[in-house]
Amino acid sequence: KYQKTCRHKSQYDPLLTFLLFLSSLSPAQLVCCVRTVKTTTFFEEHLTEDNQEYMRKTMAEEYRRQTAEKLNPLKDEPWERHEWTEGSRRVGLVAVKLGMAPVWTKTGERHVVTMLQVQDCHVLKCLSKEEHDGRTAALVVGGKNVSPFQRSEQSMDMFRTAGVPPKQKVSVFGVSDNALIKPGTPLYAAHFRPGQYVDITAKSIGKGFQGVMKRWGFKGQPATHGQTKTHRRPGASGPGGDPAKVFKGKKMPGQMGNVYVTAYGLKVWRVNTKHNVLYVNGSVPGHRNCVLKVRDTKLPTRKSSLLNPPFPTFFTEDECDLEEDLYDENLFVHTEPSTESV
Ligand SMILES: *[C@@H]1O[C@H](CO)[C@@H](O)[C@H](O)[C@H]1NC(C)=O
Repeated sequence: KYQKTCRHKSQYDPLLTFLLFLSSLSPAQLVCCVRTVKTTTFFEEHLTEDNQEYMRKTMAEEYRRQTAEKLNPLKDEPWERHEWTEGSRRVGLVAVKLGMAPVWTKTGERHVVTMLQVQDCHVLKCLSKEEHDGRTAALVVGGKNVSPFQRSEQSMDMFRTAGVPPKQKVSVFGVSDNALIKPGTPLYAAHFRPGQYVDITAKSIGKGFQGVMKRWGFKGQPATHGQTKTHRRPGASGPGGDPAKVFKGKKMPGQMGNVYVTAYGLKVWRVNTKHNVLYVNGSVPGHRNCVLKVRDTKLPTRKSSLLNPPFPTFFTEDECDLEEDLYDENLFVHTEPSTESV
């Protein structure tokens, strides 16, 4: 009751409540509950609950408004559209890793897929050939909305010009000149279609400083036969008097993981257009909830899976009748009767 009256007067003090809560615990419980909680939103720290609620609501509304305004980019002076030609390079998407799940093909083989969700993905900026790397034009794409206070003022300019909420991840995709898209255009999972192959880049899970057995798969040394304190060590590094040096790139202990890794040529099994989820064959780098770059594969042998894709991207007004779930032709669809009951 005390707390309730306080809150009405907007004097509710979270720190005091927390201290009261702490003092009611035993020392053993205390040890367990001490941890640093870093809030990701700027406004939670010194605001009353009412005000927090208000901020959260208005921010969400503002984001929704900004996103809705951009839902139909073809409405105001659309950019010229070009046809898909062999050798065109489309833009990619920024997606969030959700987790993994099994799928079955019609012939009964089991595959494991990674589910990637395309959240609030927008084109932010066009870079001309000169601004990018001198060879191809590029598009800057952002994914996953964040608080504006998590972005620098410098990068906020870009979001304001594009008229979209600030993004957690901003990626650059080199594209061919006919695949340029107007900044502010939303990108959806239906940009990719089942049956095609994609390349996925993300930061791998950090493993810290590791020895050669974990990092490079060395065999290690025997457990017995007189070995002392030399079981998981690399042994001699090789060169003797002749090169008289250790060559660069020698496999040694060091930092493992936490670097950008690309998984090439992963098949898209299924696309959910309602929740914007991609079902991609096999595993992809990164932890759950990490943001990754997804784009058409550049493997020459798998490129041919890309025949007449939505170009330059999927626009909602072009294909209004798109089904909620798109499946690869070999994938068993769970809503259909199984082979046994036929
Ligand atoms: C799917 O991934 C698995 C494991 O990474 C691989 O063995 C298999 O060949 C892949 N299947 C297709 C259709 O790409």
